[in-house]
Amino acid sequence: MFYNKIKTLVPQNLKAFIRNPLLNTKLKRAYRYDYQKYLKFGRNRFESSPVKLIGQIILLYHVIEKGLTMPETRLGFGKQRIIRLCDLCLKYRDKYGLDDDQVTHAIQVILEYNDFHKRNNFKLDKSVIECIDHILDFANQIEPSQQIEVTREDYFKHTFDSFQLFSNSRSSIRNFTQQNIPIEELEQALELARNTPSACNRQSWRTYIFSDHERIKRILDAQGGNNGFGHLTNKLIVITGEMGLFGGIAERYQVYIDGGMYAMNLLYALHYNQIAACILNCSHTPEKDELLRNICGIKDSENFIAMIACGIPPERFKIAISRRYERSDTNNIID
Ligand SMILES: Cc1cc2nc3c(=O)[nH]c(=O)nc-3n(C[C@H](O)[C@H](O)[C@H](O)COP(=O)(O)O)c2cc1C
Repeated sequence: MFYNKIKTLVPQNLKAFIRNPLLNTKLKRAYRYDYQKYLKFGRNRFESSPVKLIGQIILLYHVIEKGLTMPETRLGFGKQRIIRLCDLCLKYRDKYGLDDDQVTHAIQVILEYNDFHKRNNFKLDKSVIECIDHILDFANQIEPSQQIEVTREDYFKHTFDSFQLFSNSRSSIRNFTQQNIPIEELEQALELARNTPSACNRQSWRTYIFSDHERIKRILDAQGGNNGFGHLTNKLIVITGEMGLFGGIAERYQVYIDGGMYAMNLLYALHYNQIAACILNCSHTPEKDELLRNICGIKDSENFIAMIACGIPPERFKIAISRRYERSDTNNIID
C-alpha cells in the first residue's frame, strides 16, 4: 500500500532512470544464462555426443543432396565434404552402431553420389574413392538413395487439396526458369500470410521484396548458401522482425519466434500460389549481419529472420529428399 503510494509520487523519467540499469543487469544475466547453455550444449566444444555427431552428418549429407539436385550438377562436387561425411559415418558406426535413420540415410546419399559419378563416367579423386570404399565395405545391404524428380505439374497438383496433401507436397525448390513472377501473385501470398499468429498479436514481421537482378545477386552472394541455384532467383523476399515491439527479459527471442512462424506460413502461402521457393538462412556472424543490412537497407531496429528465393520451376526438376525423422524420434507424448 505504502509502496504503491510512493510509486505514484515518483516521476516517470526517474522511474525509467532506476529501472534501466536494473534491466541492463538482468538482461546481461539472461544472455549469460543463454550463452552458457549454448556453449555447453551446442555443437561448440570438441567432445562429441551422438546428437552432435548426427547434427554434423545431416549438415554434410544435405549439402551432397543439394548438389545432386542442382539445375546443373558439377561432376566431382563436394570432394572435401564427402570425405568428411564418410569419416563421420564411420566414426558414428564405431561409437554408437548403425541404428539411426539419419546415419543410414547419409550412407545412402554417399552411395548415390558414387553411383551418380559412375553413371556419368566421371572418375572421382583417389582420396574420395578410398573413403567411399570404406563405406562400401560394410554397407552392402544398404541401397543408394534416389533424389526426387518431378514435373512442375505434379509438384503443384495438390495446391488446392486437403491440408495433408498440400503440406506434404511442399518442398524447398532450387531450380527456377527465367519466367517472371508478377508482383500481384507475390502480394496474394503476402496477403494470406497475414493470418500468422503472433505473441499478443504484435505482428513483428516485415518483408522486403527484391526484383532487381543485380541487387539480388549482391544479397545472395553475401548470404552464401545458394550456390548453383541462387542466380536463377526471380524475386527475393527478405523477412525481418521489428524489435521495437518487444521488451524486457522474457521477450528477448520473441522476434525470432514470431518471425519464424511467419516465414513458414509465407512458404505455404507461396506454395498455394504455385510459386516455388527456397528459404535461406539469415543466422549470421555480426560482420555478415552488418554487410547484409547495408545491402538490403533494412531498418536498424529490425533483425533478419530469413530470406526466400522465389521463382517458377522448369517443366521437370529435382528435389532434395531431406529425410525426416520418424515421429517417435522427435515427439514425446507424456502420460
Ligand atoms: C531457417 C532455414 C534456413 C535455411 N537455409 C538454407 C540455405 O541457406 N540454403 C538452402 O539451400 N536451403 C536452406 N534451407 C532449406 C532447408 O535445407 C530445407 O528446408 C530442409 O532441408 C527441409 O527440406 P524441405 O524444405 O524441402 O522440406 C533453410 C531452411 C530453414 C528453415
